[in-house]
Amino acid sequence: MRSASLRFALIYSLVFGLSAIALAGILWFSTLSLLQRQAERSISDMLTVLMDANQKGGLPQLESAIRYRLTGLADPEIIIVLRDPAGRIITGNLDQWPGGLTQDGVWYQLPVSRGWAHSTALLETATLPGGLRLLVGRDLTAAAELRVVLRDGLILAASLMTALGILGAIFVRSLFRRAIRDISVTTAAISQGDINRRVAISGVGDEFDELAVTINDMLERIARLMDGVRHVSNAIAHDLRTPVTRARARLEDAALHATTREEMQAAIDRATAELDGIVAVFEALLRISEIEAGSRRAAFTPFDLAPVLQDLDELYRAVAEDKDLVLNTRIAGPLPILGDRELIQQAVVNLLDNAIKFSPPLTMILFKARLSDGVVQIIIADHGPGIAEEDRARATERFFRAEAARNTAGSGLGLALVAAVAQLHNGTLHLQDNHPGLRAVISIPAHVDG
Ligand SMILES: Nc1ncnc2c1ncn2[C@@H]1O[C@H](COP(=O)(O)OP(=O)(O)O)[C@@H](O)[C@H]1O
Ligand SMILES: [Mg+2]
Repeated sequence: MRSASLRFALIYSLVFGLSAIALAGILWFSTLSLLQRQAERSISDMLTVLMDANQKGGLPQLESAIRYRLTGLADPEIIIVLRDPAGRIITGNLDQWPGGLTQDGVWYQLPVSRGWAHSTALLETATLPGGLRLLVGRDLTAAAELRVVLRDGLILAASLMTALGILGAIFVRSLFRRAIRDISVTTAAISQGDINRRVAISGVGDEFDELAVTINDMLERIARLMDGVRHVSNAIAHDLRTPVTRARARLEDAALHATTREEMQAAIDRATAELDGIVAVFEALLRISEIEAGSRRAAFTPFDLAPVLQDLDELYRAVAEDKDLVLNTRIAGPLPILGDRELIQQAVVNLLDNAIKFSPPLTMILFKARLSDGVVQIIIADHGPGIAEEDRARATERFFRAEAARNTAGSGLGLALVAAVAQLHNGTLHLQDNHPGLRAVISIPAHVDG
């Protein structure tokens, strides 16, 4: 009983068997009661007809009516007997008046004999004017035979159904077993370290397939997350080794060769700057992790984003001008948002930084913000090299830097932070082609009061 599939199979066959029995029972009782009612109706009708004949034409007409119904091609199951007040049989097809028929208008089921034939019959009597008694009935032999046939048929059907039920249960059990075995074999293999195993999909599209697809999706996601973790730790090791090595070389070089206090100071300053860069990278990484953990949601406040963006515009207009770039700003307020002002500010700064960093001189950068369909959109579009289609999905990964960006300053954490901030606010970051250039769109649901 510890097997769920066995339990299920047993319950299944029990339910199936019970419904087979219920069906047979209903058939049995309804058929029998129908037969009984039919017999009763035909007896009552016959009694009425005969009493009518007696009323219309007296005894002669009654007798001829009885004879007419008992001779020739008449129904062999019909029983009619007429007797006089003294108990002598006047006419009829029974050898003698059955004992026990004391009351008129009551159904009796008694043994009767006609010549050699002994059987059971359903009987009813009526008393006619003048003390005559009329007995009408039906021989139940055929009905009894039918009953036996019906009973045997139902028993056969019920046992067939039970057998089918058991077969069905066995089939269902093996089906369950197979589906679940595959899942447990796969998950066991995965917990042993074979992370690339997947549950087989039969292709039928049933619930087991659905479950298998869900499990496979989950495994896919876990594998991707593990890849991400591996990638990030590789990237940290790789990206930070260079500045650390450089700082070390500077210090070593100064220790060996610096002759003046000024030379020593300069070497220490440069090494400190390298180390500051590393600290900044770690801080950015920690910040992204903190944002992804969602703990900052507790500090969300409603605010208007428009003035925040206008301040940024003022700040970056000057930076852009220094690089001969024009900032085309179109901010349509108000932009009500429930969120973290400082984080959104940081995200927009990262996008503006990129746009300015990657734009060739004498081009224009579009900085636009608007409220449309209950969504606040911040769009920053430049005319730089853009991000190749195949890199766009990876651009928001930590430490991603396109080949072309290798000789610019940066650590590849900017867009990762933007994406994390958008997600924290239930929003999205979309990177699109600006023909040429990059068009980055942050969409965040607007805040509605109440
Ligand atoms: N506006 C842009 N135009 C072209 N490439 C971009 C732009 N913004 C980002 N990228 C590409 O995406 C990479 C990741 O950007 P980001 O995460 O901000 O890192 P970083 O700015 O430190 O390089 C960049 O290195 C660059 O290859
Ligand atoms: Mg950047």
